[in-house]
Amino acid sequence: MDSEELILITGATGFLGGATVVEAIKAGLASRLLLLVRAQDAAQGLDRLRSQLARLGADEHELAQLGLPQVLCGDLSELDKVAADRRLACVSTVIHCAALATFASHPSLEKTNVDGTLALAALMQGRARLRRFLYIGTAMACGVHAANGNSIPESAILNLAQDDHLVPYTRSKANGENLLRQRFPLLPLVVLRPSIVIGHTRLGCTPSQSIFWVFLAWQKLGALTAAMDDKIDVVPVDWCAGAILQLALKDTLAQQVFHLSAGTRSSRSFRQIDTALAAAGCGNICGRDYERIEAGQIDRLLLRIKIRIPDCSPRLLSRALKLYGEFAGLNYTFCNDNLLAEGVPGAPPFTDYIGLCVATTRYIPISEQMKWDFK
Ligand SMILES: NC(=O)c1ccc[n+]([C@@H]2O[C@H](COP(=O)([O-])OP(=O)(O)OC[C@H]3O[C@@H](n4cnc5c(N)ncnc54)[C@H](OP(=O)(O)O)[C@@H]3O)[C@@H](O)[C@H]2O)c1
Repeated sequence: MDSEELILITGATGFLGGATVVEAIKAGLASRLLLLVRAQDAAQGLDRLRSQLARLGADEHELAQLGLPQVLCGDLSELDKVAADRRLACVSTVIHCAALATFASHPSLEKTNVDGTLALAALMQGRARLRRFLYIGTAMACGVHAANGNSIPESAILNLAQDDHLVPYTRSKANGENLLRQRFPLLPLVVLRPSIVIGHTRLGCTPSQSIFWVFLAWQKLGALTAAMDDKIDVVPVDWCAGAILQLALKDTLAQQVFHLSAGTRSSRSFRQIDTALAAAGCGNICGRDYERIEAGQIDRLLLRIKIRIPDCSPRLLSRALKLYGEFAGLNYTFCNDNLLAEGVPGAPPFTDYIGLCVATTRYIPISEQMKWDFK
């Protein structure tokens, strides 16, 4: 890479985008970063970035490598305001991580995840130096009819019918990806679709408690919408960020769609996860089977929630568990052959670092942890 070539990253104040920036700084690329941040001015943007990167493990020395030249103040919905910024002419790689990543029916989902993505493509397409535009999608954009009990292939085809998607979020991500392909055929587009990103291999759930609480809740309730031996595809954020950076920097890539996933090799069963939770001191009924329950019957657990997870509103938690239970019931793992073929090392299994996730959430009530996913 030419020393003048910049890497534009969106979503750097978030979980995955922030972890990607930390990896980039550690790789000696700080001076080549250009980070789109929502803020009143660049100084405030830099403050926001630094506090998120510190949460993701960046030390003082690494944080000091970022300065105002790395900050591009802007919002995906107002990119015309940054269009004249001269630094954009030096961008060779875009890593588009920013999104509204929520399972709630947020009114801005399409505006942010579809319109914002297309506006970024319009801002960058045709720029002479642009070599690669990485769109961070989601593996769940495949929808609910992709397969049953199988490894989902890294296919470019994504269905958009409402009943293909459990939540508007995955549909908006699929829509953004499809429209990028249709409307910007000349964009050097590569799509990376992470599976379920939970925790960090060294920091546990300190940077984000997103989704981990679901496993704690199933365990406390002794109930699950999948079979104990079904597998679930979970990856840690730092591994995911490392994979993004590796694919961003490679001279050539053999494919245009990649799952950033645990795949069949590193996905673990709910039984293995339960055993690892118990080994980490969470629950003590190691080895038993949870009650198998249909997502539509989760209301039967209201009393159990009230007794075993008293900090949570039973209605709220049962509604959330219904949603996550529908995802778990799909029994998906995501094929990652394309990723492994590029030389990216396989993801560490969830059970390898779950003890840290337990340790870093021990004193945080589930009702608090849930807030990460219902912004
Ligand atoms: N986490 C997962 O399990 C997972 C799994 C698969 C795929 N993904 C994908 O990975 C990407 C990152 O997810 P995440 O979990 O890291 O999300 P996150 O922590 O919620 O971060 C979202 C980021 O997007 C930024 N953003 C949102 N709206 C914006 C706008 N209008 N203009 C500019 N920036 C905006 C946020 O900025 P502010 O700080 O200003 O709000 C934040 O930096 C998303 O594309 C998501 O779909 C995530």
